[in-house]
Amino acid sequence: LSKENQSILSAYEWLTKLYHHLLRYTKDGREGYNYFKNRGLDDETIEVFQLGFAPNAKDFTRDFLDKKGFHQQLLVKAGLLSQQDDNSVTDRFKGRVIFPIRNHLGKTIGFGGRAIIDQDPKYLNSSESELFQKGKILYNFDLAKKHIRKKSEVILFEGYMDVIAAYQADVKNVIATLGTSLTENQAKLLKRYVDTVVLCYDADNAGVEATYKASMILRKVGCHVKVANLRDDMDPDTFIKEHGAEAFNNEVIKASNTFMSFYMRYLKKDYNLSLEGDRINYIENILKQLAMIESPIEREYYLKELSNEYDISLETLTDEISTHREKMG
Ligand code: UTP
Ligand code: MN
Ligand code: MN
Ligand code: MN
Ligand code: MN
Repeated sequence: LSKENQSILSAYEWLTKLYHHLLRYTKDGREGYNYFKNRGLDDETIEVFQLGFAPNAKDFTRDFLDKKGFHQQLLVKAGLLSQQDDNSVTDRFKGRVIFPIRNHLGKTIGFGGRAIIDQDPKYLNSSESELFQKGKILYNFDLAKKHIRKKSEVILFEGYMDVIAAYQADVKNVIATLGTSLTENQAKLLKRYVDTVVLCYDADNAGVEATYKASMILRKVGCHVKVANLRDDMDPDTFIKEHGAEAFNNEVIKASNTFMSFYMRYLKKDYNLSLEGDRINYIENILKQLAMIESPIEREYYLKELSNEYDISLETLTDEISTHREKMG
C-alpha cells in the first residue's frame, strides 16, 4: 500500500470512530441516532455496523482532520471532501447518516451517506479511487463470510439497509452491491466462497432487470442462482420490518424460485406469445438457458413444463437441448 493510501485509510478510521461516537453519544448526532431508531435498528446493530452521523456543517470534517495533520488535497482525493467550482472545499457527507464500507479485512475504505431529509441524491458514496472501487466491493462480506460458508449459500441484496435489517433479524449470510449492478469481478470473488447465490433485489422493475443481469453474470462464472420470492413492490428491508424475520426466512428465502422459473416468467415480456413465431423464439431462448443446467432432473422438469404448455413433443425438445449441450462441449 502506498503512503498516500495508508494515510487515506487512517483518515477513514478516524472518521468512522468520530461519526459513530457523535451519533451514539452526542447532541450533534442525535438526528442520526433517531433516524436509525425510526428505521427499527437497535443499539447493538448500530454498534456492529459502526453507523454514524456527519454533522451538518461544511468544515467540521476538514477541521477535525486538519488538527490530526491530514492534508486537504489528500482528503479530496479520498472522497471525503468535495471541491467546489471556486476551489473551496466542503464536507461531502455533511448532514447524512454514515454507513462505513469495509473491505474483506474489515477496514473502512469508503462511506455511504444517506440523506435524512428529502434531498437529492438520497445516497451518496465516496468517490471512486484506487482504494474504493464499487465494482469490486461486496458490502458486509467480511462479517458474512463465515455464515456464507456455514450455510453454503449467500443472499445478495441491493442496499446497505437491506443487509443491516436482515443481519439484525439473524439472517447473517447477507451482502450487497452498492447500488450498481453486479460485476463479473464480484461474481468471481463470490464463486471462490460459495456455489449458491440467492438474489434478493427489490421487487420493482429496476430490481427485476437487475436480477436478470446479475443472474446471467453469476451463471457465467458457474454459480447456482436462486431468486428470492419477494412480492408486492417491497424491498427486503421493508418486508422484514413489516412481517418479521420468520416470514422473511420462510416466505422469501426458503421459498426462492429456481433461476429457470424466474427466467421463464421474465422472458415473456419480450414476446407476444399469441404469435406462433414469437412462441417458437421464446422456446428456443428458454432451451438455450436450460441447456446450461447441469442437473438432468431439473432439465427434464422444465422440458416437461414446456412440452405441456406449448404442445411440443418432449422428444423434439430433448433433441434440441442435446444439440445445445454438444455445442457447449
Ligand atoms: P434503493 O433505491 O433501493 O434504496 O437503492 P432504498 O431501499 O430506496 O433506500 P432506503 O431504504 O430508502 O434507505 C439500494 C442501494 O443502492 C445504492 C445504495 O447502496 C442503496 O442502499 N444507491 C442507491 C446508491 O449508491 N446511490 C443512489 O443514488 C441510490
Ligand atoms: Mn460504539
Ligand atoms: Mn431499489
Ligand atoms: Mn431498496
Ligand atoms: Mn429500502
